[in-house]
Amino acid sequence: MTPIEQQTTDHLLDEQALSEFIQHAGEIEHPREMIIDVLRAIQSHHGWVPDEGVELTAAILGLTPLEVEEIATFYDKIYRRPVGRFVIHLCDSVCCWTRGAEEIAAHLQKTLNIEFGQTTADGLFTLLPSCCLGCCGIAPAVMVKQQFYGPLTPEKVDELIAALRQEGSA
Ligand code: FES
Repeated sequence: MTPIEQQTTDHLLDEQALSEFIQHAGEIEHPREMIIDVLRAIQSHHGWVPDEGVELTAAILGLTPLEVEEIATFYDKIYRRPVGRFVIHLCDSVCCWTRGAEEIAAHLQKTLNIEFGQTTADGLFTLLPSCCLGCCGIAPAVMVKQQFYGPLTPEKVDELIAALRQEGSA
């Protein structure tokens, strides 16, 4: 077993993904370009990226953990702490702000009974602010699990939360 394989645990990355990342990293000139791909795979598998996920990514790509950490902490869709099953990213950039994002933010916090950066007690929802999601045409908008929702009203927020709760209980 290689040192990299020894570091692998099922809860971080499955064996096939690991071997594919190792192979691809050996084939390209700048494995650093794969940092986000590996981190996202770990996050998809584990739910978030613990320190050992950063260390594993560094080992796969031949980088230092610090080099990986710099990217992981810069990119706000990589979660370095445990999050709920559904992470709601509310855009707070200018288009959404001018179209009522503050009201949506207040409604989300009241409905979920949490502040931004927190997770509901049942572990279902985490609320995070986000810079422009790239869907300004449907402002004010949120992103949940790579899906965009908007233009939001408090009523549409309620519908979205209800749908997610139902999905979460299935
Ligand atoms: S400003 Fe909100 S999606 Fe662009």
